[in-house]
Amino acid sequence: MTTSDDASVYKITEDLALVQTLDFFTPVLDDPYLYGQIAAANSLSDVYAMGGEPKLAMNIACFPKDLPKEVIKQILLGSHDKVKEANALVIGGHTVEDKEPKFGLSVTGFIHPKDVVTNCNAKPGDVLILTKPLGLGILNTGIKAGLVSQEGYNTAVFVMTQLNKFSKDAMMKVGVNSCTDITGFGLLGHAYEMAEGSDVTIKLFSSSVPVIEEAISLARMGIIPAGAYRNMEYVKKQVEVSDKTAQEIIDCMCDPQTSGGLLISVEKSKADLLLNELKNSPTPYGLVGEVTERQDCRIIVE
Ligand code: CO
Ligand code: CO
Ligand code: CO
Repeated sequence: MTTSDDASVYKITEDLALVQTLDFFTPVLDDPYLYGQIAAANSLSDVYAMGGEPKLAMNIACFPKDLPKEVIKQILLGSHDKVKEANALVIGGHTVEDKEPKFGLSVTGFIHPKDVVTNCNAKPGDVLILTKPLGLGILNTGIKAGLVSQEGYNTAVFVMTQLNKFSKDAMMKVGVNSCTDITGFGLLGHAYEMAEGSDVTIKLFSSSVPVIEEAISLARMGIIPAGAYRNMEYVKKQVEVSDKTAQEIIDCMCDPQTSGGLLISVEKSKADLLLNELKNSPTPYGLVGEVTERQDCRIIVE
């Protein structure tokens, strides 16, 4: 099956398909155990975004020669613990020497071929639900600059280490049209991909988008990662933003997310059902938009 998703699907039998993905990145935090957890949650997410259940994982690691053994141990332990929480197994991996540490996983999951959810099947009349708050890139930038409170740090860590399993189980129970996880391209970039792939227009309600409080004040101070500007540049021509949208909310909507939530496009008649399934979600979530027939712009922010 060919899609523009971050994972690939290979049909083995009529009842069984393989979901295969690979992701890795440089450290987002100084704490090696948390870094391992976040990298694993992020890698597993691409399987969840397609509705799959991860089963096997392999570490992919680049470590500097002088990186203490204990640090490496903690990264691998963080990853191992997250993979275990996902009911999957780490079955090996490969490490090379590199100046800058990088870490992630290749994940293999399974799904029924009929249940595969892609990021290019949003339908006019759908509503959009986002399952984690935005602002993680801004907070990570603030953390590196020493500008974030302990509470802001704890919130960012909590959100980034959460598996998207809960949201994935909820969406699979209800049955949805389309899904993507929100990572490097930010909400606007990933929504744009979904709109383009589905040949529809997506309307986002800026006042309903869940955002981590402290990211808003950081954005007002101009603490915004370069990637957010690149994301805006990338989608600019296809985005129409109403005057009433605050700039700091736009900044958060462009903010590259690390281990962000799922953006789910679901038939309006099933929206309450899905919101009800998400009721005990560990992270804040919200109904953030709707899908219309294709208009002049792919994305309308109001
Ligand atoms: Co990915
Ligand atoms: Co992804
Ligand atoms: Co090897």
